[in-house]
Amino acid sequence: MSNPIDRREFLKKSIVAIGAGGGAIAQAAICIRTRAQTEGPYYPESDLNRDQDLTRLDPKGNDAEGTIIELSGIIQDASCSPISGALVEIWQANAHGKYDHSEDSNPLPKDPNFQHWGRMTTKKDGAYLFRTIVPGHYPLDPKLTGKTPSGPRQFRPPHIHVKITARGFQSLTTQLYFHEDSYSDAVTKDLVKDLNNWERVPSDLKVTFVEDKKDKTKPRTGAFSFTLAKR
Ligand SMILES: [Fe+2]
Repeated sequence: MSNPIDRREFLKKSIVAIGAGGGAIAQAAICIRTRAQTEGPYYPESDLNRDQDLTRLDPKGNDAEGTIIELSGIIQDASCSPISGALVEIWQANAHGKYDHSEDSNPLPKDPNFQHWGRMTTKKDGAYLFRTIVPGHYPLDPKLTGKTPSGPRQFRPPHIHVKITARGFQSLTTQLYFHEDSYSDAVTKDLVKDLNNWERVPSDLKVTFVEDKKDKTKPRTGAFSFTLAKR
């Protein structure tokens, strides 16, 4: 530091560093921990075939039934910084409301082309992405299969189960729901609105899947970022 030029450079760098630090403190972001929900009885039983595309089980086979959607977002910490190396798992019912699980006794149609679960690990940017289909609603009591939902807590609203584990963080298990505006036809819109209301689905777990205004043949996309708490 005896050289005056070096010292000048050092001071300049220090001022820049203090300025950046001050700005970061003033604008410190806070992300609220994502609400947890029950795992439910249908956590995947098998470890096979769990990539990010649930819309086709066999690459050479047919597409799953139902409307294709894409769900994406960031896995982040309480300061909204992305978490690298987070394992993100999703599982859900098929378009008819049926799970691929031995405990699911609802007599609803199976879909042999649907991959009922998927998983991926985040990279540095904390980003995740899944391609899947809109799940059907299903009755809590199998005897109600085939009936139309007509009151509170008879059927589960459409939802996607999610489990996230990351080193140094508390694992998160939750469920994402569909905002009624994710649907284009009026009858389904009203039904999903009723199902969400009857179950009192928290608004912070509802995702709106929006259509591409320029290209309506593209799948609707939904954005949801998950915030994990440190251990
Ligand atoms: Fe479920």
